[in-house]
Amino acid sequence: MTDQLLVIRDLHVSPVAAPDRHILQGIDLAVDAGQVHAIMGPNGSGKTTLAYALMGHPAYEITRGEVLFKGVDILGLSPDKRARMGLFLAFQYPTAIPGLSVASFLRTMLNARRQGVDKDPDIDPTDPTRGGVSMGEFRRLVREKMQLLRMDESFATRYVNEGFSGGEKKRLEMLQMAILQPEMAILDETDSGLDIDALRIVAEGVNAQLRPEMGVLLITHYQRLLNHIRPDVVHVLAKGRIIATGGRDLALRLEDEGYAGVLQEAGFEVDASDSGLDAREPTAVEAGA
Ligand SMILES: Nc1ncnc2c1ncn2[C@@H]1O[C@H](COP(=O)(O)OP(=O)(O)OP(=O)(O)O)[C@@H](O)[C@H]1O
Ligand SMILES: [Mg+2]
Repeated sequence: MTDQLLVIRDLHVSPVAAPDRHILQGIDLAVDAGQVHAIMGPNGSGKTTLAYALMGHPAYEITRGEVLFKGVDILGLSPDKRARMGLFLAFQYPTAIPGLSVASFLRTMLNARRQGVDKDPDIDPTDPTRGGVSMGEFRRLVREKMQLLRMDESFATRYVNEGFSGGEKKRLEMLQMAILQPEMAILDETDSGLDIDALRIVAEGVNAQLRPEMGVLLITHYQRLLNHIRPDVVHVLAKGRIIATGGRDLALRLEDEGYAGVLQEAGFEVDASDSGLDAREPTAVEAGA
């Protein structure tokens, strides 16, 4: 018995809208409880596709492989069930939800998480005497986590991501994570768009949440983030696969020399025109259609 939290085996993924495009072509990855794994890779290599596939985004089809979370095969489960189990995705591009306040959003989310996967009938989210979150408890929790992330309390009354700056959106993703306390957090470029101070605050916020029973998959382009959140393992995703795995030194190496070296070592030909992107068919836009 190991403490493997997330196990990805031979995962193949295509977009539903473009079934001939094989974006992920056999991903194998295992994250143990307590571990932080970083995933780096060129633009368009499939990092967000992997994150979406793990979460159950309906735009992506799993054509082969399996994903076990806490020993359970989750590929047949809805995104809602996966989230209730403790899987969390911080979006690269969070969307606005006009009309829904941050406070109601967070409260609904927390209640759902507490109810769990089987929607425990003894827990009534609207009733604090039956396991629901009381208004007082909720306010204290949100205030505490907002302080941790240095967010102004006025955000609670605003609509989700509406008019938020790029950095504010990323902080709201982290606030959700702090409140949900997921067991497996996938952070898709949570560092992008953050200024240097915000990066440090968000990284501290993530570090403060790390627990021995929790795992993190950290998608990033910048080794800078890894100075703040120390990964146990670093992977390079390119050409639809994990082409290299190592420690922090791998991230430092990529920063120095780009992806050409690891691509070559993995047996891919790299020429001057190759920006490190995958060998996929060009999209309609790229082909000038
Ligand atoms: N729904 C879709 N339909 C068609 N193509 C898609 C779809 N989703 C993703 N792709 C393509 O799959 C490839 C991988 O995209 P993805 O967003 O996963 O890359 P990424 O590694 O996250 O890139 P970045 O570093 O720029 O965020 C891209 O070429 C993208 O255009
Ligand atoms: Mg992406």
